[in-house]
Amino acid sequence: MILSDILRFIHFSFYKLFKPEITIGEAKISDWKTLRPWLDPQSQQDENALTAPNCTNLVARHGKKIVGFVQLLRLKNKNTDELWLNSLLVGRSYRRLGIGTLLSNAVIGLTVQEGQNILRLRVRESNKPAVQLYIKLGFGTEKSEYFKQNEKNVKWLIMKKVCS
Ligand SMILES: CC(C)(COP(=O)(O)OP(=O)(O)OC[C@H]1O[C@@H](n2cnc3c(N)ncnc32)[C@H](O)[C@@H]1OP(=O)(O)O)[C@@H](O)C(=O)NCCC(=O)NCCS
Repeated sequence: MILSDILRFIHFSFYKLFKPEITIGEAKISDWKTLRPWLDPQSQQDENALTAPNCTNLVARHGKKIVGFVQLLRLKNKNTDELWLNSLLVGRSYRRLGIGTLLSNAVIGLTVQEGQNILRLRVRESNKPAVQLYIKLGFGTEKSEYFKQNEKNVKWLIMKKVCS
């Protein structure tokens, strides 16, 4: 175990015992600098994503510190919007404390609020923490797709939840 792992373990144990107060709210333009490195480097998003009408961006904060992020993306599909849960991420030292669940549930709540009942997401099949989280939240696999990444075929799952 190296020092950074030991420090992370102490930090984690502390927070597991004394649950940090986490608030979920919409991201502000001033959050962009913090958030950009968290987003998929291949995504073309810039800070306009924080105000774009087809996205709602939520952050989890511990005090003033941003400790998690998720995006609700509305994609035009014929006459309706398809809703996608996108870019869920929790800071390393804050994982396994329920923050991913809080953020995902906030997106599920927005889906229902918008009068929609289907929420989708895309996740690498090998990403066990994320897949476990989504299964726990009631998502099921709708289909799978393979994409070439660094010369390898990577399996992605499209997961779907019927929200009520
Ligand atoms: C996936 C991720 C968002 C989970 O966030 P989190 O705040 O740690 O999740 P939670 O604490 O709400 O965990 C809820 C459940 O998810 C599952 N889970 C979370 N992390 C897990 C892990 N490392 N291994 C196995 N299951 C895990 C468990 O079922 C967990 O419930 P439990 O703690 O009662 O066992 C976080 O690990 C992360 O940011 N990963 C990197 C980014 C990423 O892969 N995002 C997903 C993109 S599709």
